[in-house]
Amino acid sequence: MKSEILEILRTKRDVVSGEWLSERLNISRVSIWKHIGKLQECGYEIESSAKGYRLAGSPDVPYSWEFPAYEDRLAYFPEVDSTMDEARLWARKGAPHLSVVVAGLQKKGRGRLRRTWSSKPGGLYFTMILRPDLAPALSFKVNFAASMALAKTLREFYSIEAKVKWPNDILAGDKKLSGMLSEMETEADLVKYINIGIGINVNALPRGEGIDAVSMKALLKREVSRVELLGRFLERFEKDVENIETDDVVSRWKEYTGTLNRAVRIVTFDRETEGVARDVDETGALLVELPGGEIKRVIYGDCFYQPV
Ligand code: BTN
Repeated sequence: MKSEILEILRTKRDVVSGEWLSERLNISRVSIWKHIGKLQECGYEIESSAKGYRLAGSPDVPYSWEFPAYEDRLAYFPEVDSTMDEARLWARKGAPHLSVVVAGLQKKGRGRLRRTWSSKPGGLYFTMILRPDLAPALSFKVNFAASMALAKTLREFYSIEAKVKWPNDILAGDKKLSGMLSEMETEADLVKYINIGIGINVNALPRGEGIDAVSMKALLKREVSRVELLGRFLERFEKDVENIETDDVVSRWKEYTGTLNRAVRIVTFDRETEGVARDVDETGALLVELPGGEIKRVIYGDCFYQPV
């Protein structure tokens, strides 16, 4: 109901009477009043007078009602340990495909390869629960689709020349703008769920992690609405993931990556590979040409671009 009330107040841009709202939405005036009160508590500037209500401002908080298409599938938490933990609980309880857990900040944000992910207020931190009809070995396709959807969103709506760094980081220039982490549970050779967690440096910049990072705010020299960004990304991703089973994601992904033909160093827990990234195969693995000319297939790891 809150999304409907907000939509009316946003469209009218003027005072709307409680009576009119109640008739239009077919709920009592007391219910309208309660919803308005709750919205005010949540930071919406709603002026109320004898004539009715007027929306003077909205907080940039990704509350569920800001995403009408997701209202029953999206939960916002001001603070969590990690949206990955929350999403895992949801997934195990049977949350439907494309449910989303968003947090204002994370106290124990997790990065890839057991790193931490600094999650201060101002960034966007969320995990999507996905139930694609895919064999576990093809689960990388949803990760590729998600990083591609984010790169497209950043290019299309924010004119940021975003590129994917294998496997799923988003860079602007050579600086990291976003990272992605995924977790999966399988049963009898089928994916039960894949949870994809995305952290985007929107208005805050992670510090002290040894990563060369940049925020959207620093690039655009203005604050960016997290609500708008999440809405745009979800809309894009939902379309892109629709036919993921049959889609040739890898070919499309190659149009968005800056990794191919670059000198790279790939680091895993126990080894390092140096060479030139030549291609990505149909399983999402990076094909690296070693100094001797031999091609090595790398299936996971942190990729560092080497100076040219
Ligand atoms: C990386 O680049 O190392 C991956 C970072 C992933 C961070 C996101 S923020 C939302 C979700 N919750 C987490 O704890 N991590 C992911």
